[in-house]
Amino acid sequence: RIHLSDYTPPAYLVDEVHLTFVLDPTSTRVKSRIAFRPNPDAPGTFALHGEHLDLISASIDGEPVDPAFTEDGLTLSVPEAPFIWEAEVEISPETNKALEGLYLSNGMYCTQCEAQGFRRITYYPDRPDVMATFTVRIESDLPVLLSNGNLTGRGDGWSEWHDPWPKPAYLFALVAGDLLDVHDTFTTASGREVQLAVWVRKGDEHKCGWALNSLKKSMAWDEEVYGREYDLDIFNIVAVDDFNMGAMENKGLNIFNASAVLASPDTSTDADFERIEAIVAHEYFHNWTGNRITCRDWFQLCLKEGLTVFRDQQFTSDMRSAPVKRIEDAILLRSRQFREDAGPLAHPVRPESFVEINNFYTVTVYEKGAELIGMLKRLVGDDAYYRALDLYFDRHDGDAATIEDWIKVFEDTIDGDLSQFMLWYSQAGTPRLTVTETFEDGTHEIILEQTIPNTPGQTNKHPHHIPLAFALFDPTTGAQLGEEVLADLTEARTVLRHEGLERKPVLSLNRGFAAPIILDTTSLADNRLFALANETDSFNRWEAARSLTRDGLISLATGEGGPDDPYFDALAGLVQDDTLDPAYRALILGQPSQDDIAQAIFEAGGTPDPLLIYRATEALRLRVAQRLQDILPALYAKMQVHGVYSPEASDTGKRALANRLLGLLSRLDGGTAAQIQFDRADNMTNQIAALHALLSIDRGQTALAAFEAQWRDDRLVMNKWFSAQTGTAAPEAAVATARTLTEREDFDWTNPNRFRAVMGGLIANSAGFHAEDGAGYTFLADWLLKVDAKNPQLAARMSAAFETWKRYDADRQDLIKTQLDRILAKDSLSRDLTEMISRIRNA
Ligand code: ARG
Ligand code: ZN
Repeated sequence: RIHLSDYTPPAYLVDEVHLTFVLDPTSTRVKSRIAFRPNPDAPGTFALHGEHLDLISASIDGEPVDPAFTEDGLTLSVPEAPFIWEAEVEISPETNKALEGLYLSNGMYCTQCEAQGFRRITYYPDRPDVMATFTVRIESDLPVLLSNGNLTGRGDGWSEWHDPWPKPAYLFALVAGDLLDVHDTFTTASGREVQLAVWVRKGDEHKCGWALNSLKKSMAWDEEVYGREYDLDIFNIVAVDDFNMGAMENKGLNIFNASAVLASPDTSTDADFERIEAIVAHEYFHNWTGNRITCRDWFQLCLKEGLTVFRDQQFTSDMRSAPVKRIEDAILLRSRQFREDAGPLAHPVRPESFVEINNFYTVTVYEKGAELIGMLKRLVGDDAYYRALDLYFDRHDGDAATIEDWIKVFEDTIDGDLSQFMLWYSQAGTPRLTVTETFEDGTHEIILEQTIPNTPGQTNKHPHHIPLAFALFDPTTGAQLGEEVLADLTEARTVLRHEGLERKPVLSLNRGFAAPIILDTTSLADNRLFALANETDSFNRWEAARSLTRDGLISLATGEGGPDDPYFDALAGLVQDDTLDPAYRALILGQPSQDDIAQAIFEAGGTPDPLLIYRATEALRLRVAQRLQDILPALYAKMQVHGVYSPEASDTGKRALANRLLGLLSRLDGGTAAQIQFDRADNMTNQIAALHALLSIDRGQTALAAFEAQWRDDRLVMNKWFSAQTGTAAPEAAVATARTLTEREDFDWTNPNRFRAVMGGLIANSAGFHAEDGAGYTFLADWLLKVDAKNPQLAARMSAAFETWKRYDADRQDLIKTQLDRILAKDSLSRDLTEMISRIRNA
């Protein structure tokens, strides 16, 4: 276990790295020539990281040496003066199925070095605070040979690259393959012409335009909003089929999961287009927030990830609809991050210790990390925020920085003290704000009580500094009273008082969901219909609908009557309100996930029954459909988009609403409209939505077969086919459906996208995964054990599906516990999965 408090600076620093790769599937040779010098500030022993390496030779200043091997590398006594380390190692990319370090994916060499993959390439101080310039030579018969930085030479069977920007090893990248590029140029504000290229396998050339376009938009946006220009002559993006995550920001050579870069109207949904735009932006933005300024150590991961997510969220808000983006982000945060924060895997945005850093690329680090930036921006104001960022880039360019450095630029900018705000980085758990109101003699009091729940290893927390935006409304006219106000909550208890009011006002709290907290209140619940009619904050208006829907589902799932007429009437009014963006209306019609409902029931002191929750969601859909019966066909028709497909926000919103309506319509017409849409669809958004609608009412077999016949050769599209089935299967059929799919020849589980399509779909099918007999648990555990032997990261990620086990009844808990213990009992379990399962098990 590694602790933040144990940090010590590196004993040896690196000035320059020279690498030569002679590529071969099973015996690639890597020669390194590294200029080291002792760190005058931190004398210590010389040690290099290395894993799965075969050391062929090593020397210091030309003299052969005989290093001692350690658990994670080697050590050696060295001169107390600058010296040159040279080594040659052999590695086997083909057998590397962990997809860390250098590996082969469909005949193409590629790398993934974050967080600690470089040590699988050669011996090196593989830590982010060791930064150096890299010169790389690649030898191979493959036609395209890429690395970071600028191309400095190439000939028959080789190429050479030089990256002038000092970087940590985790940003190293190499790609070699039979690739084609689709290219463009971008001229930066100061006039540098940058060659942009997206590299893909033959046959995917027509799917690169959107990513290229997104890249240009990102480059322009970062200049305009943050004043950040690109700093090399080349920017390459490569699409890889087998990739553990979305994408990676390697300097000048971003490597992407093919699913996060390839797009075409036929094969990609609107959601895919939006996701690709955001991920391209995210990786591009890392060039400043991550690469030029990197992290001192991996505990500081949120320094680059929280900030970069925040920046990509801002970008998407600017490219699309800001209110819609805010709601989408809040949905993700509340369903995944709040759940994480409330369970055995809860950890602070800046963790204090870890066994395996790969287990901390979490929604807490990323999404809650981004929320903290948003709150900081609210607290200091936009103007100070951008001045602080300028100071950050100025002061820390070239540094491996810390969260303390980050907060300090804000303190210096506002000349204030943010030590209480720092607690957001160290205290885990979602703060709960209990709200009560009194009204007497024209005086309205809002009493706010803040608590932060205990989390593993953390109790007795201090109150957070919370920026809370609120407004008051006149209960009779519905008008907002005065401006929105930002209250600075710093105490466990705060009273906000308003005097001279004629009537008790209606409260609108945490507007824009500006603080990632849970509001605990009954008074707000009473005002939801009022809010649906009168809210001026688009987030809170949606929130009112969401909260009513959630309570309706809980009521149905716990054997009560469900929502009553005013709810349905309000919903009908909103759906037809043409002054509202269709995308927003689609969100209003959306339901919380079954998992969200389970969490809500659990938090209210109940024991969720997945099957009853499933039935509640089905019942409510039917009721909404029946209530909207008369308007559904016409509104569905009105939302059809004609003409050339465009992935931009306005058409996307119409399709989102139309497809929501189609889901409802198919509950009434037995799937007629959905079948027609499926047959006529000329884009993937409409095709897959129709397939989902049909599968959800168990009328999807014909469409499923047609879909397969059409797309069997497109791996990315087929992932949708796989996940649609596990995701929509009836609860009693879900595990069997998943099992059948895993028995197919095209179920290649070493491909993370394919594995996630099936298993992720099943897990999201809450009632199916939590089948009473425990079949879902055994099925997942079997697969985790199998996958862990090859790809620990993939297994560890998926294992988080068990994090909610304490919510359920004793029988289910026992069934899950049995599986957790079975996994832990396996010898040679990876460090990744061991840490995850132990944390979950010991809750
Ligand atoms: N830095 C990458 C990104 O957020 C993700 C890398 C994930 N690495 C990992 N080991 N899980 O853009
Ligand atoms: Zn990132």
